[in-house]
Amino acid sequence: MTRIKIFDTTLRDGEQSPGCSMNLREKIEMARQLETLGVDIIEAGFAIASPMDFKSVQAISAAVERCTVASLARCTKGDIDAAWGAVKDARHPRIHVFLATSDIHMEYKLKMTREQVLQRISDMVAYAKGFCEDIEFSAEDASRSDRAFLAQCYSNAVAAGATTLNVPDTVGYATPQEMGDLIRYLKEHVAGVEHADISVHCHDDLGLAVANSLACVQAGATQVECTVNGIGERAGNASLEEIVMAIRTRRDFYQAETGVNTRQIYRSSKLLSNITGVPIAPSKSIVGANAFAHESGIHQHGVIANAQTYEIMNSADVGIPQNTMVLGKHSGKHALREKLSSMGYELDDAALEEVFGRFKDMADRKKTITGSDLESLVLHRRSHAAEGACRLVSHVINSGTGLPNTSYICLERSGMKLEEVAIGAGPVEAAYKAINHMLNMDVNLESFSLNAVNGSEGTIGDAIGEAVVKVSAGGGESFTGTGISTDVVEASIRAYINGINKILEAAE
Ligand code: KIV
Ligand code: ZN
Repeated sequence: MTRIKIFDTTLRDGEQSPGCSMNLREKIEMARQLETLGVDIIEAGFAIASPMDFKSVQAISAAVERCTVASLARCTKGDIDAAWGAVKDARHPRIHVFLATSDIHMEYKLKMTREQVLQRISDMVAYAKGFCEDIEFSAEDASRSDRAFLAQCYSNAVAAGATTLNVPDTVGYATPQEMGDLIRYLKEHVAGVEHADISVHCHDDLGLAVANSLACVQAGATQVECTVNGIGERAGNASLEEIVMAIRTRRDFYQAETGVNTRQIYRSSKLLSNITGVPIAPSKSIVGANAFAHESGIHQHGVIANAQTYEIMNSADVGIPQNTMVLGKHSGKHALREKLSSMGYELDDAALEEVFGRFKDMADRKKTITGSDLESLVLHRRSHAAEGACRLVSHVINSGTGLPNTSYICLERSGMKLEEVAIGAGPVEAAYKAINHMLNMDVNLESFSLNAVNGSEGTIGDAIGEAVVKVSAGGGESFTGTGISTDVVEASIRAYINGINKILEAAE
């Protein structure tokens, strides 16, 4: 079995996708989850891009222990200095330098000749090596580069000290056959290639990112770059969960394995979706709500007779919680802690206290509390975790047809109770107006959506609503807020407060 390293770039390439930006606290939470998931390398950001990126890479370097932490850098001294400054305290630091090698990029973007590019690779990889033992070199747009020239670029990188050679299909143009051929070609033509890992980094513009990555594994690549839920530039990157489960399910074919704990896959996917507010498509492979659902009678009959008739994977292996009743309104804190722990959630006392309060509240309103319900409560506990954040204490809404909708909202902030009443065209507007007024904030609601947490599984009487909002203030950055409740107006209020808390936190 060949051990394939999983290089996760959710926090760098993934975060570059529209609507997927995360704040520092969220990035650290995600990085910790990636470590629990068992990825080998976390690309924590692009340190030179902004002071915030630098801070995030630095904080993640301090927060994780087992994983290698990488920062991206262009082939310039300034970028490499910043990358090293941000990762130098990581237990296992890596500098990831890149330079484009396709004719079109060299001529129009870099305005450099092939000779200049070769020289720059040698000089900058050697410069990075002066700081750090672990150096990755990426030839941007490798799949559209001249092969002989590309091999020379990688040979120079190895000679200067690169330990990983990454082969990106930057614009998602290549086919699986071409990517596999390219890896085989490089293995034959790069001098010193036996001293380095060959890595692959595929984008999904033609929907081929996972197939291309797997073709490279088959051809001898030993590292795959990917993101949770496949988020990333444009159509995204290769999806981590699909790559890992394909290698695991078809280990007979790939003769390969990863170090990922697959039971943490679903949890990682939900956490990311919860942080960014970007929903997971129901038909998404591995983690979508329908990925393990059998609708047709013929399939259901087959699965009852023998699950393997229509199931190639077990949902428990991906960590999907059981939707049977797990706890009831008489369950105590101890039982909750035990149940969460069996689901892989170890909460400290303060977090458990908060989840327990919401659990009791939910158990009063909902007959059965399932694994998914508990998971939602845990994921949404972040809503008022930060210092100086607001917390919903109580609310009363009067809504109907033919009369004004009114709201009374009571929040707690820094130990003080704030109250306000307002009128609106609908119950949600009335509630949001009251909150804006009491906080004296001019909040712009950019988008708003409501979904049922358990997709099609919950019955109407038992469903939990999840609201997702995008908010900004004073023309500044937008933030995603999420909230859940059996009452959709309450979920909407919680989502709004969660978004506002992020605005307040960023302003500190
Ligand atoms: O897509 C790409 O080429 C990249 C590189 C910087 C690795 O993200
Ligand atoms: Zn990329």
